[in-house]
Amino acid sequence: MSTEVTLTGQERSAELDVDQLRQLVGLVEHDPAGDPFPVSGWDAVVWVVGNANQAAHYYQSAFGMDLVAYSGPETGQPDHCSYVLTSGAVRFVLQGGVSPDSPLLDHHRRHGDGVVDIALEVPDVDRCIAHARAQGARVLEEPHELRDEHGAVRLAAIAAYGRTRHTLVDRSRYSGCYLPGYVERRSGHVRRPGAPRSLFQALDHVVGNVELGAMDEWVAFYNRVMGFTNLAEFVGGDIATRYSALMSKVVASGNHRVKFPLNEPAPGRRKSQIAEYLEFHGGPGAQHLALATGDILASVDAMRAEGVEFLDTPDTYYDDPALWARVGEVRAPVEELRRRRILVDRDEDGYLLQIFTRPLGDRPTVFFELIERHGSLGFGKGNFQALFEAIEREQERRGNL
Ligand SMILES: [Fe+2]
Repeated sequence: MSTEVTLTGQERSAELDVDQLRQLVGLVEHDPAGDPFPVSGWDAVVWVVGNANQAAHYYQSAFGMDLVAYSGPETGQPDHCSYVLTSGAVRFVLQGGVSPDSPLLDHHRRHGDGVVDIALEVPDVDRCIAHARAQGARVLEEPHELRDEHGAVRLAAIAAYGRTRHTLVDRSRYSGCYLPGYVERRSGHVRRPGAPRSLFQALDHVVGNVELGAMDEWVAFYNRVMGFTNLAEFVGGDIATRYSALMSKVVASGNHRVKFPLNEPAPGRRKSQIAEYLEFHGGPGAQHLALATGDILASVDAMRAEGVEFLDTPDTYYDDPALWARVGEVRAPVEELRRRRILVDRDEDGYLLQIFTRPLGDRPTVFFELIERHGSLGFGKGNFQALFEAIEREQERRGNL
């Protein structure tokens, strides 16, 4: 079996090696030879936001990202502006409408700040599209090439849940800062003295919320169209608090580089957190992005210092002897985890530390997770109960429970 992992350009320029990446996001061995839809890794997460100019500042100051590229009216793109930021191998593209007629403004009016495109780097765009089409995927953009003085990028796009798309990108013949049409751009933002060089180094997983009854459909979509396999982690209606419930399954690319947990609301006595998301987002969409860090304690401290708000885990979580019996020894003292409200979970492969932010936009929709893996290939299933209770306290404050 081949254990070969090919780093993407962004991973190489972030100076990640294969072992670091394996540790960060929990890679497994995989033979790409029989893969009908080979995926090299994440390319970018593209957002539509209400004010890309200010969001770009937020992701630099609060998330420690670097501004690297820009396109907008000054570069011949009158409709919208677009800021590209990176942290390690993670690339965000923040887009906001400029022209009053921009379709992005209509999108934002309906959905608020959110993810519109989870772009994946693939070695062969045409092969992926041919397979996706044969498996019934909706092709939104046929394979085509964009060129400039830095070379050529081959792209295509398929539709995913809600109005989310997957753009497929082959940038193996391109050396520019992002895509043709973008120019390099740096900012004068200065990091606080003592702040870590990067607060996260890789994207671990992106969770999608879909409608009641649609989860299995989308699991089958990723199985069929992208050749993704189902991971063991499964959350049934049994994991629920008194009020809220969800169902969850996880699909992943062959070596687990790209992982998509999919949630659907489960009927409960009161409105579930997934139902709240679907209502305020105006349909299915990306619920949270998990950012992999090598030092979650330092990352949380730096983000808190910049005003990022995390979900508050109850003290009872840390006082529960059953928790520590289950997770055993971890790298940081319990008091250090408690002070930061970091959660911990263990499975047969190892353990993980994780924490969740509150929703970052005006609507109770998309949020982030920080995750530090130590061998665990899971998603923190053991923390769902504690997490749901924390989310529900927030829902209650918003009057949406
Ligand atoms: Fe997660």
